[in-house]
Amino acid sequence: MRSVFVLLAICCSPAFAGETSSSDALINLVHQDCGSCHGLTLKGGLGPDIRPNALSHYDVSTLSTIVLDGIPDTAMPPWRPLMSEADAKKIAEYLLHGDLK
Ligand code: HEC
Repeated sequence: MRSVFVLLAICCSPAFAGETSSSDALINLVHQDCGSCHGLTLKGGLGPDIRPNALSHYDVSTLSTIVLDGIPDTAMPPWRPLMSEADAKKIAEYLLHGDLK
């Protein structure tokens, strides 16, 4: 299952360029790729609720590390091969604030 999602992310992700992506592309990725497990509205599915209220105990740097490295021994995959650290930080900010400016 994990490899299926990683493959999906490779083919379909505009962030695959490995550089900083536009906010629109990242928001799209969060809802499409992360949403495949966390739900399109991020309220939870296979993975837990990752809306701002559910993540308020995290800071941007902890969250971007979770996104980059995944959570070992769970279905949460590492995204480091697919996105830059700058992108992961922007995603973390989006998750925490529900907005990306
Ligand atoms: C293949 C399914 C899958 C995909 C795709 C996925 N996740 Fe997850 N994610 C999980 C699971 C399962 C967990 C819970 C792991 C655990 O048991 O601690 C999780 C946990 C998390 C957590 C920690 C939540 C908490 O309350 O501690 C965050 C944050 C997170 N994911 C963000 C993301 C983001 C952002 C993306 C997209 C870049 C993403 N996930 C893509 C399955 C996935």
